Amino acid sequence: MVESVTKATLIAEILDRKSVVAFDGRPIEDSKLQAMVEAARWAPSASNRQPWRITLVRGGDARKALNEALAPGNQEWAPSAPLLVVFATDVPDPERPASGAKMMLDNGFAGQNLMLEAVHQGLRVHAMGGWDEGKVKAALGMPEGNVVAFVVAVGYGGDVSTLSEDLLAKENRDRVRNDVGENFFDGKFGVPWKA
Ligand SMILES: Cc1cc2nc3c(=O)[nH]c(=O)nc-3n(C[C@H](O)[C@H](O)[C@H](O)COP(=O)(O)O)c2cc1C
Repeated sequence: MVESVTKATLIAEILDRKSVVAFDGRPIEDSKLQAMVEAARWAPSASNRQPWRITLVRGGDARKALNEALAPGNQEWAPSAPLLVVFATDVPDPERPASGAKMMLDNGFAGQNLMLEAVHQGLRVHAMGGWDEGKVKAALGMPEGNVVAFVVAVGYGGDVSTLSEDLLAKENRDRVRNDVGENFFDGKFGVPWKA
């Protein structure tokens, strides 16, 4: 009950973003690609360093190689998306080990901006954390000294009737979250926040 009240007041794109596996192959309009780039570009970052290095991969040999660089489970659905976006960042400064975490965090902000803008543009998205690092770098010609942070598949929603049984179950699975009090605290660590 409280949950549904909370949801009703949220920005629609936050709720509409869902990790789908059914994508239509039709290309994404340039204006929408540009909007996604701008959205990511305006993400916050530590000291405004903007450590994200974001490669948008649509077709050609690079895309074929990138498809094959994904974890096997992701290869079952992600190749059907017309766009894969690879987020990467410089290897952190060895003098400041915590900088690596911040660079990843900044990439996450940029990624969330991009995903929410994509949803705003009527597109569907799915973030991935499974790939072969060496193969992704080779596919994109990424220089040494960079690490891949994550990959996001983007496209229009596809025909679910063509999905395998397993993928259909993944597409339709319930979206669940922990109870608020498990992750949110009131004033002191561990004291459940009450919605
Ligand atoms: C960093 C990150 C890595 C993820 N890796 C994968 C992945 O490799 N394969 C996959 O199918 N989903 C992956 N997901 C999607 C999550 O499973 C999904 O976000 C989560 O189950 C919540 O569902 P929702 O996105 O529909 O709200 C990843 C999500 C994030 C943020």
